Amino acid sequence: MANIKILGIVMLIDSYDRVVDYLRVSVTERCNFRCTYCMPEKPFSWVPKENLLSFEELFEFMKVAIDEGIKKIRITGGEPLLREDLDKFIKMIYDYEPSIDLAMTTNAFLLKGTAQRLKDAGLKRINVSIDTLKPEVAQEIAGKNVLKNVLEGVEEALKVGLKVKVNMVPMNTVNVNEIVDVLEYCKERDMSVRFIEYMENKHAKEGISGLKSPELLAILKEKYEFVDEGFDGTSPSHYYKMKDGYRFGIIEPYADDFCTKCNRIRLTAEGNLIPCLYFDEAMSISESIKRGDIKGAAAVLKEVVRTKPEKNRWGGDDDEISTRAFYETGG
Ligand code: 5AD
Ligand code: SF4
Repeated sequence: MANIKILGIVMLIDSYDRVVDYLRVSVTERCNFRCTYCMPEKPFSWVPKENLLSFEELFEFMKVAIDEGIKKIRITGGEPLLREDLDKFIKMIYDYEPSIDLAMTTNAFLLKGTAQRLKDAGLKRINVSIDTLKPEVAQEIAGKNVLKNVLEGVEEALKVGLKVKVNMVPMNTVNVNEIVDVLEYCKERDMSVRFIEYMENKHAKEGISGLKSPELLAILKEKYEFVDEGFDGTSPSHYYKMKDGYRFGIIEPYADDFCTKCNRIRLTAEGNLIPCLYFDEAMSISESIKRGDIKGAAAVLKEVVRTKPEKNRWGGDDDEISTRAFYETGG
């Protein structure tokens, strides 16, 4: 069953009884960074501009999704701030349903001049990547000298009152010796940090060796005492609480039970609705939306929810590797 109504509340429910109430919307696959784990080189070609859905068209689908039970929307990319007038799109969603948990994932490079406008438009929270606090390592990871702008962008976001969560992808020989430093940087600013296990994919640079959860915990245990808090139901992150109350998380897509609580689907900038980050399967809402066929778009949404796979295949056979690009789905 893909959609049910209980006591007047509409919900999207997949074939494994998971409630799907979280939509991630990529507004562009383009990015001003070339992160080794995502888009080390410019793709052979970008999606042609005319294939992108306009903000008006995307908003038509946001309304459908909200009416069908979506409660949380995250704007992603590529880098979402490369798309002009993003604050207007955020405001459209906010004005339609102010209670939506409206968030954005950004590399923070352009946040300094935009954070206030985004906050005023209705954005509540952002996630940013801080993989290092060393300019030369940031240059090595992102392909350009980005650290100063990123850190200034983060400070600006905090100043205007956006809640900030930080993502770090710990990689052997690259930033493994900065795990504690990044955690301390976040802790000082009351930002939660989540360490993400590197997810292998065909688009990433060859030879990246990501740290897995046990290795990370061993490093953190040398310095801190903490207890396992498990999952809190709002994110895929496994949380740990330190003595002083600070919480950090680890995102473990290779863990066997990672997908059991998955509540999300993803929309690409050209209107492909994707049931799972790992797989290439997708269904387009573009045609229905362009001809104003709201019922048709809702039917695609329900079908995508119905076909959501039980689990990803990270940690499966070694010879299998995901071909889905993170810069299309926003991770
Ligand atoms: N593995 C793990 N995390 C990734 N991200 C992008 N690509 C990968 C990958 N291959 C994360 C980054 C960024 C977010 C958009 O997605 O940490 O914060
Ligand atoms: Fe851009 Fe984010 Fe991918 Fe880095 S991880 S290349 S910032 S989309």
